[in-house]
Amino acid sequence: MHITDIPTPAVLVDTNRLTRNLSAMQAAANARGLRLRPHAKTHKSPHVARLQIERGAVGICCAKLGEAEVFADAGIKDIRLPYPLNPVNADRVFALAERVALSFIVDDPAVAFEWSGLAETRGRKLDVLIKVDVGFHRCGIDPCAPDAPGTVRAIAAMPGLRFRGLLSHAGHGYGAVTEKDMEAIATREAQTLRDLAAASGTRCDELSVGATPTARFSVRQDGITEIRPGNYAYFDRTQVALGAATWDDCALTVLARVVSRPARDRIILDSGSKTLTNDGARGFLNTDGYGAVLRDVHAAEPDTSLLIERLSEEHATVRVLSGETTLVTGALARVVPNHSCVVSNLVDHLWLVAGDTVVERMPVAARGRIT
Ligand SMILES: Cc1ncc(COP(=O)(O)O)c(C=O)c1O
Repeated sequence: MHITDIPTPAVLVDTNRLTRNLSAMQAAANARGLRLRPHAKTHKSPHVARLQIERGAVGICCAKLGEAEVFADAGIKDIRLPYPLNPVNADRVFALAERVALSFIVDDPAVAFEWSGLAETRGRKLDVLIKVDVGFHRCGIDPCAPDAPGTVRAIAAMPGLRFRGLLSHAGHGYGAVTEKDMEAIATREAQTLRDLAAASGTRCDELSVGATPTARFSVRQDGITEIRPGNYAYFDRTQVALGAATWDDCALTVLARVVSRPARDRIILDSGSKTLTNDGARGFLNTDGYGAVLRDVHAAEPDTSLLIERLSEEHATVRVLSGETTLVTGALARVVPNHSCVVSNLVDHLWLVAGDTVVERMPVAARGRIT
């Protein structure tokens, strides 16, 4: 089967680019003796997780218990949730911990204390890491707070917990505006974890950092034990704009068809916000619009004369900024989306392709598992 036979809109993943991306990140981790634990939120696929583990990944991360349960069912044995699990989910957490090596984060001594008590009651120990806010200002303890080292000591000493170390996510790297800025974020992240570990006087077997845009700098930092990028499996327009990937690395694309050509400078594709999502792109380059339309379905480079300027649910309105285009009604277009993780979460299946040839349809088994 050829890609032109696929009903549109469709999400395609090029297996050659995917496996190249997985191998390259593994090699970068191996070169510095770091453990790679990819975040599976990007692919939500046991098949891709197995490709990562075959290459040397120590396990995976999931955000939600529901995702982790799908991967556990598929035989993945080591799962970390860098997500602040609430003890209301205790039954599911302890059931999962029976089946896999499970670890998760805590960032609140009261919640950690509750987990510790629940574990003691059940005669179990729970593996936890303390989440540290390194500047993203989402979850995590404030490393600059005077009581931060004391908080680490207190949580590490809780009898129902097995304290593994510190974990951070430099999500603010997505707001970096230069390469230097990105490097500084990765450097500060590692320094923050090292300093807090030292100040606490507590043994931290793990210092875990994770994000795709900072990964190329994180691997150069001393003292880090683990990296947790996720998006690198597929990459996307944002990662190209942030210098983390080239167009040729973008494994996930959306195949769309021109369904209307109402004006010379306006093309309507059948991939609206329910395929491309409304996420904008960020980066050092111009990132206007809702994805990059490639020069043709076989090309890696975008056609810069085309701008996806608006999305309705099932329509993408593409403005022809200059010149002529071959995108007549019925023609196929291929789009590198702004954010591949959210695109893959919108489809039950995506199409694994090798160049123009369809390899197989792959279920996105953990999509929509948001509880
Ligand atoms: C806690 C945590 N770790 C790792 C990652 C992976 O980062 P990226 O999507 O930049 O690869 C994420 C992404 O959201 C995250 O929230």
